[in-house]
Amino acid sequence: MTRVLAPARIPRPDDVDRVVMASRATSIDSVYGQMERIRAAALRQNVPAGVHGVLVYLSGWYLLWVEGPSAGVREALRRVARDPRHYSPRVLHFSQGPRLLPTPWSMMMLPSSDTADAVGQRVDALRTLLLSGRQFSPTSVLRRVAAPFGLPLGAGVTDPESFHRVGICAAESAPAFGLVRWIAGQQGQPTRHRRVAGEEGLDAGMDQVDILVDNLPCRLNALPWQSLVHGLLRVYLPEWQHMLMLFGGSVRGDETLMQRMVKAAAELPEPTSLLASAPDEETHARMAAIAAPAGLPYEPIAVASSQDHAVLWRALAAHIRRLGPPAGSEWAVPEGALLELAA
Ligand SMILES: Cc1cc2nc3c(=O)[nH]c(=O)nc-3n(C[C@H](O)[C@H](O)[C@H](O)COP(=O)(O)O)c2cc1C
Repeated sequence: MTRVLAPARIPRPDDVDRVVMASRATSIDSVYGQMERIRAAALRQNVPAGVHGVLVYLSGWYLLWVEGPSAGVREALRRVARDPRHYSPRVLHFSQGPRLLPTPWSMMMLPSSDTADAVGQRVDALRTLLLSGRQFSPTSVLRRVAAPFGLPLGAGVTDPESFHRVGICAAESAPAFGLVRWIAGQQGQPTRHRRVAGEEGLDAGMDQVDILVDNLPCRLNALPWQSLVHGLLRVYLPEWQHMLMLFGGSVRGDETLMQRMVKAAAELPEPTSLLASAPDEETHARMAAIAAPAGLPYEPIAVASSQDHAVLWRALAAHIRRLGPPAGSEWAVPEGALLELAA
């Protein structure tokens, strides 16, 4: 598998430091309450320092990804290191470059059935790789620890991140979840659920299933349309080669979904490519007319009801087959002062 290294680039004055750290939670009681308190502290202290953060919890582990100006990131990590709510912190990623987190704070809880030891083994493996000079993008680190691909990747594939990723979104949200559940049932694979929150409240649930399409590993992510502008999902969007949009034929609902997508994709380095299903050609034409000026490639893959799971699945599977083998995910470890964090 190709080692895809983040391209060499000339440092820029607005570059930020990015650090991903894993630690064990001291108590697993009322974790969401703890996360809300951590969020309040982070919003109070990170934001004035220009530091953005993501906090993930699963199976007795916290994953913290912070990025911002060097001084602010160091200060945040010093504060966090003193916190008795966690222990055994380990840095799993360090890099410098453009800001990847568009919003000040996101957090995610995964009701994972993994044991703390199983997660710990994944953390240790990444740590060992980092110390030997190999590391992965922050999103990849989060996925490798929190949600590794659930099926064998196939002969000769050594990169565990080498799978296709597709987002699925529908105007009323429910059809996207219905389709993922249906495909999971057909393939005999479990769905995974996660809860995602931003700067306030708890806003979205997401479902995910891992499948093989003729031996091509693929992860499907159903998300509510409202969450397209969520900071954390926007971070993952560039890695989902495709968004499957399930339009339902309601003029207002479909336009709202499409406009959300345009907004979510507005600042991405590469336009997200849209696959679309709609109940009629007229809806496709209207949606394509919104996608075009925003530079979003629009490919109608089905004229079908968003409940017609078999037709939608056939069209999506055919598309995945055309994509061929997926790419890998490795990044270069920079020389730099903050590397001491890895020691
Ligand atoms: C896993 C974890 C991550 C945290 N992340 C942050 C953070 O990004 N920013 C922050 O200010 N506090 C964060 N906190 C809370 C801090 O550790 C600390 O409690 C808080 O900043 C208050 O600090 P103070 O008592 O020095 O005012 C985090 C705590 C934990 C357990």
